Amino acid sequence: MGKDVVKVGLLGLGTVGSGVMKILQMNGEQVRGRAGINIEVKKILVRNKQKARDVKVDPSLLTTKAAEILQDPEIDVVIELIGGLDAREYVEEALRRKKYVITANKDLMATAGASLLRLARDNGCNIYYEASVGGGIPLIRPLKHSLGANRILRLAGIINGTTNYILTRMDLEGLEFTEALTEAQARGFAEQDPTNDLEGKDAAYKLCILASLAFNSHIDFDTVHMEGISNLNRRDLLYARELGFTIKLLAIGEEMPEGLALRVHPALVPLTHPLAGVLFENNALYVEGNAVGEVMFYGPGAGSMPTGSSVVADLIDVVRGINHQVENGVMEIDFLDKKVVPLEELNSAFYLRLQAQDQPGVFAGLANAFSEEMVSLDMIIQKRSREGKAEIVLVTHVEKEKNFNAALARIQKFPGIGAINSVYRVIPK
Ligand SMILES: NC(=O)c1ccc[n+]([C@@H]2O[C@H](COP(=O)([O-])OP(=O)(O)OC[C@H]3O[C@@H](n4cnc5c(N)ncnc54)[C@H](OP(=O)(O)O)[C@@H]3O)[C@@H](O)[C@H]2O)c1
Repeated sequence: MGKDVVKVGLLGLGTVGSGVMKILQMNGEQVRGRAGINIEVKKILVRNKQKARDVKVDPSLLTTKAAEILQDPEIDVVIELIGGLDAREYVEEALRRKKYVITANKDLMATAGASLLRLARDNGCNIYYEASVGGGIPLIRPLKHSLGANRILRLAGIINGTTNYILTRMDLEGLEFTEALTEAQARGFAEQDPTNDLEGKDAAYKLCILASLAFNSHIDFDTVHMEGISNLNRRDLLYARELGFTIKLLAIGEEMPEGLALRVHPALVPLTHPLAGVLFENNALYVEGNAVGEVMFYGPGAGSMPTGSSVVADLIDVVRGINHQVENGVMEIDFLDKKVVPLEELNSAFYLRLQAQDQPGVFAGLANAFSEEMVSLDMIIQKRSREGKAEIVLVTHVEKEKNFNAALARIQKFPGIGAINSVYRVIPK
């Protein structure tokens, strides 16, 4: 012991930074009690000191000079809520100066997490990042601590609120993709440039963080296969429902004897699966452990107060550790290098929607293309034809992805086939 207050520097007072300050004001006594010592936010870095804020803070706390926080020896904890990869230099400087770092920055933790954790260890401090995945849902701590007795076999998550909001509105209310996106932007669930969300990059960043903990492995962002939802047509949601599924953007990590499989893509999810009930902007992570079985974490995946709640929880842990001069966080620095299995080698069931000439022999030709590649069909529906063209929807059994692709290549060359409209992977019932 020795200190009677732990001083904190906050980098950023935007959506999450404001939430953190509100929680510290609203629950100050409780936070103090849990941390065991007073916490004082000494300085807050912003770009513009004059900007109207969502939270009341003493204007003298605001600064536009990072050095006033990073070089202040009284500040023991730096909370980085600026975002983006440019924040890396601030985080590194804080760690080099032996300050504990708390961050909500998934881009940074996904791409530089291992090196930052090493830097933290080398400087006798630590970096906490509960808020970087799943907003207010506890995910990092459970993977590090509560599920520590397990070998994690698989995790599957809905970890991007923007795309889940869009898919839910399309599915339940029949909106087209562009309408649902506009609504998401109007309600603050999508950014003005939503590319990273729609193309699966945001979810892939988060999957890197989760998978590194779940599988105790270095994860290279480039090894995560990524497909987004921008081309998703409402018809696919309608047909999926007819077949007993909904469509979700899933982030999936698996450890198999051959290695790790990591991917983000839209998938048909059975309506009976717990992830099918995760609606609108909510997030969830479904984890299968070899001791616990199946568990699911569910809740608000973003937002000022939910994300602030995770940041303040990290702050309590850090401050408690400083107060008792113990390290509460488990340092995940001994990640292994595990092989990543190429997508082509994975097994999946597939949903396919295509247009075909409404003429004899087309069905037989399709069936033939699949059987030539040893792909067996589970369900096949032909929709009423219009102007001589039939829409065919089919679902395969679980097969090797490369066999399905080979069958698809055959089908594309088949004269009776007009267009392959969509292909999605299917989580089997
Ligand atoms: N928003 C969420 O729901 C959510 C959820 C989970 C994780 N996160 C992560 O949390 C982090 C913060 O997100 P946010 O939504 O709170 O961002 P935000 O609303 O854009 O806030 C960013 C804050 O950082 C300040 N800032 C940005 N660049 C700066 C610079 N170069 N120098 C000084 N100050 C700078 C801004 O100052 P001004 O206010 O003066 O412009 C602002 O206060 C990101 O890593 C994000 O991915 C966010």
